[in-house]
Amino acid sequence: MPADERFSFSMRLDEDYRFVVDFDQAAVPSLLMDEPAPLGAGSGPNASRILAAAVGNCLSASLLFCLRRARVEVHDLRTTVTGTLVRNEAGRLRIGEVQATLAPTIDAQELPRIQRCLELFEDFCVVTQSVRDGITVSVNVEPTSAPELGEHRLDVLRRDEYARLDEADHVYMDYTGGGLYAASQLREHMRLLEAGVFGNPHSVNPTSHASTELVERARARVLEFFEASPDEYTAIFTPNATGALRLVGESYPFQPGDRFLLTFDNHNSVNGIREFARARGAQTTYVPSVAPELRVDEDVLEQYLSQTAGSHHNLFAFPAQSNFSGVQHPLEWIGRAQAAGFDVLLDAAAYVPTNRLDLSAWHPDFVTLSFYKMFGWPTGVGCLIARHEALAKLERPWFSGGTIVAAFVQREYHRSAPGPAHFEDGTVDYLNLPAVEIGLDHLESVGVQTIHERVRELTARLIEQLAALRHTNGAPAAVIYGPQTTAARGATIAFNFLHPDGRIVDERYVDRLAGEHRISLRTGCFCNPGAGEVAFTVAKETLLGGEFGDAVTLEDYVQRIGLPSGGAVRASLGIVSNAKDIDRFAAFTRAFIDLDTTPSDLPPRTVC
Ligand SMILES: Cc1ncc(COP(=O)(O)O)c(C=O)c1O
Repeated sequence: MPADERFSFSMRLDEDYRFVVDFDQAAVPSLLMDEPAPLGAGSGPNASRILAAAVGNCLSASLLFCLRRARVEVHDLRTTVTGTLVRNEAGRLRIGEVQATLAPTIDAQELPRIQRCLELFEDFCVVTQSVRDGITVSVNVEPTSAPELGEHRLDVLRRDEYARLDEADHVYMDYTGGGLYAASQLREHMRLLEAGVFGNPHSVNPTSHASTELVERARARVLEFFEASPDEYTAIFTPNATGALRLVGESYPFQPGDRFLLTFDNHNSVNGIREFARARGAQTTYVPSVAPELRVDEDVLEQYLSQTAGSHHNLFAFPAQSNFSGVQHPLEWIGRAQAAGFDVLLDAAAYVPTNRLDLSAWHPDFVTLSFYKMFGWPTGVGCLIARHEALAKLERPWFSGGTIVAAFVQREYHRSAPGPAHFEDGTVDYLNLPAVEIGLDHLESVGVQTIHERVRELTARLIEQLAALRHTNGAPAAVIYGPQTTAARGATIAFNFLHPDGRIVDERYVDRLAGEHRISLRTGCFCNPGAGEVAFTVAKETLLGGEFGDAVTLEDYVQRIGLPSGGAVRASLGIVSNAKDIDRFAAFTRAFIDLDTTPSDLPPRTVC
């Protein structure tokens, strides 16, 4: 494990035999140490215990480090340390031995892969190996395998960490809208804030330095989580995925003759980049999705990719996972587009909460995401992970506090800051950024692959239920937009309920009824109009034919162009979705069987 070359900290007598240890790290709370009774009151650990804890902790961290490097998911790690005091020849008490037993919980199939770590990890443990010069340290590793799917540890996680969901009787099915946080994430974050004094990182004073340390730790953790080499990638903190997309859009050096190529299936925050392209004279081209799967025709994509002129800047943007249909577009497109002369912008916002994105295997130029979608807390922080080379092409349209080394008024000159600071306007959200590290650790300890498997299983059940829903006349009571299997799709399902005569059930009624069942769904177009236009087979001519002027409401427009509904219904699953949620959802869907009319008092539609 890495170690500081030299450190120094102090302790002071509190009272009796109690000492307060003040460490040399601003974010670390003071530690109370005490002697056991009868000398002291045992109100804190004594030196022997601290030594044994150091040995156990160092071994645990070393093992964890090695297993994570080997991409073995560690679901839990419990370590027991036993210190034995002996008397030496002079009759003085000494620590004769420290025994450490480490019990990592990992998936059964991973057991054969941990052997190398078991051979290596002790040697990397600075404290233990140093202590061993004078004390016998015996180490025992007893891996236990995680329970199989079904009797899931994610159920335990939900009970322990997300108890509020069931206490308030919620069925949460809007994970693509926002993820949920574990109670321990909040506790850990608050503990950190309570224990430290943090100033604005733009200064050089000690409290500023403490903030900078945490911000840079979060930055390094982001790269590590996505396996992005710091030699290749930089992580830039933004307010959200949209902020990251805007950074690329406003700074990409579009010029006349350049292309902005993007899929129909994109969030509006990607669609909006076309306004920057247009203003700079570049051409925007959309690659259509094809119903009913709502995937892209690869031949058509190939054709578009081949239409570039070598000397131009060309940007290709697509989502790793659709926030509308859950379609997962092939990551192989990244290399193909780059080979054709495009910079690739991968919008990973809907993908990363339940899928592992490995940036040592895939090399998009820009990756955008929001952390609250991954682990619920904090909101207000997103990220642009960008290749250094691609970043160097960007031309920021302005400078601001934080992004420069110096600016002068009379000379009207500014010098940009190097590295990520050049793209981080003003003061970063330095009190929330430590929660990003906590959230990523949480996600890693639960295991993205574990979540992935679980939501895939639940998605299959949900799709099956919707597809099987029938009215008594035998007509389908629901229509799903997008793939009907779990192959190359995520846990986001877009659908509509149908009346017995085939008309779409007004999505506002679905919202109302879902609320009565305490189910949180999303309705509308989910900021992804392209996927919706294909799902509802709305032609370009239809859209052009309906005037959407200032005086026209969304409600009027929907009617004018003859849309069958104001949008779809979206159910999305995530970290602690469980079988009970799916059962409650199934019970709710039965309310639509044989429903031939909806109430007339539904609220007007105001946003798509
Ligand atoms: C695929 C995708 N991209 C981008 C965004 C925008 O995220 P944010 O609103 O956090 O900026 C979302 C949000 O739903 C999304 O699903």
